[in-house]
Amino acid sequence: MTVARGGRLPQDIDAAMLRLNQSVEIDRELWREDIRGSQAHARGLLTAGVLGAEEADALVAGLEQVAQEIEAGHFQWDPALEDVHMNIEARLTQLVGPVGGKLHTGRSRNDQVATDLRLWTRRRCEETLDALTALAEVLLDRAESELEVLMPAYTHLQRAQPSRLSHHLMAWQELLWRDRGRLQDARARLNESPLGAGAVAGTGFALPRAAVAAELGFEGPMRNSIDATSSRDFLMEVASALAILGVHLSRIGEEVVLWSSAEYGFLTLSDAFSTSSSMMPQKKNPDVAELVRGKSARAIGALTALLVLEKGLAFGYGRDLQEDKRPIFDAFEGALLSLRALTGALATARFGAEKMRAALLQGHTCATDLADYLVTAGVPFRQAHHVVGGLVREAEQRGLQLGELPVDVLRAAHPALGEEAAGSALDPAAAVERRALPGGPARAAVTQEIAAARRRWGLVAAPVAAES
Ligand code: ARG
Repeated sequence: MTVARGGRLPQDIDAAMLRLNQSVEIDRELWREDIRGSQAHARGLLTAGVLGAEEADALVAGLEQVAQEIEAGHFQWDPALEDVHMNIEARLTQLVGPVGGKLHTGRSRNDQVATDLRLWTRRRCEETLDALTALAEVLLDRAESELEVLMPAYTHLQRAQPSRLSHHLMAWQELLWRDRGRLQDARARLNESPLGAGAVAGTGFALPRAAVAAELGFEGPMRNSIDATSSRDFLMEVASALAILGVHLSRIGEEVVLWSSAEYGFLTLSDAFSTSSSMMPQKKNPDVAELVRGKSARAIGALTALLVLEKGLAFGYGRDLQEDKRPIFDAFEGALLSLRALTGALATARFGAEKMRAALLQGHTCATDLADYLVTAGVPFRQAHHVVGGLVREAEQRGLQLGELPVDVLRAAHPALGEEAAGSALDPAAAVERRALPGGPARAAVTQEIAAARRRWGLVAAPVAAES
């Protein structure tokens, strides 16, 4: 405890304060970044003339040894040493002797932890981007392999218009594409080095901030020491991207849950991604999708915690900021687990093409097409809409689908509605193909979108000429 409290506070710390104060059980997650940051700082101290070459070498090698001990699981984490930084420095000093006490020259835990967190967050952003790409690739593969499967598109969860499964899967993919952009933006903006900012107002030692930043893969040093040590908007930004991603995955999850119900029968999860019930032997549950839905609640909670943590915080480090770790760690863990599980689940799921087709044939999904047919015969759309609405009513009363109404009923509703209309306007497959504008569900439009998306995501090896 004397290590942590220095010479200023000779009296022992209160037990409740000790518990409140310590964070090593959480922040030890940062050990890799803490060691890399310390090694870069040691080299910086060498350049600044604070350390001799032998001293710097001893610190760098000692830190390497600490890293090996942690990696191998031999390291004794001591809660009395408060946090990851003090634990590592204490062990380093045991290993290398008094020179260990020189490492912290010109540095504070304030710039140290900000550096560790930026490095850690950068790494996790990259892992998440990879996982996101893997999920997108599965969606693109399935969109390609299920290209012939037709289904209704829904509004208000009611059958609305004729579409195809691939088009729906590509909608999921679009959300993920924007999630990728948000994470990439946040990753680019956070990539600056706080080291050299010290506790709040820098240091008089001539630390080579740019060289230290470069060694750690940062774009450069942060421009203001007060900002560098006390701002966590990079975490809010990343957590925001993860919360939005979580919401997106929860929407996909919800559809997986709905689709795998007997009522829909649109999707069957593989056994590897299903669970059973402890009581009901017949059950095969889509827990994967429900858990993904659930994890997103925590992602939103993490964002909220980070926003509130910094709200109203005066400039300069405040210890409140120690509470930033758990939410951001949790948000990344949830995102990665969800992405990976959903990727496997969707890669191995079976789609119920027959059920989708049956849903397409029930529900008068070609009603808009029949109205459009009247429009091409010169009828104003509002009037056409009214005529077809009446026909749908008629069909419902007779227990028929719109396409099953006798031709004389159609003709009675409007003289322009003859056999030809029933044949082409009311054929769902033809109706899908008519929707051939960019962003529509026609085969050619979707095929083009799949190819373009593969290029965007970097999933095709050969460079392709610019799109027309
Ligand atoms: N454990 C702290 C954190 O996570 C870093 C230490 C800064 N502590 C301090 N008393 N200035 O933010």
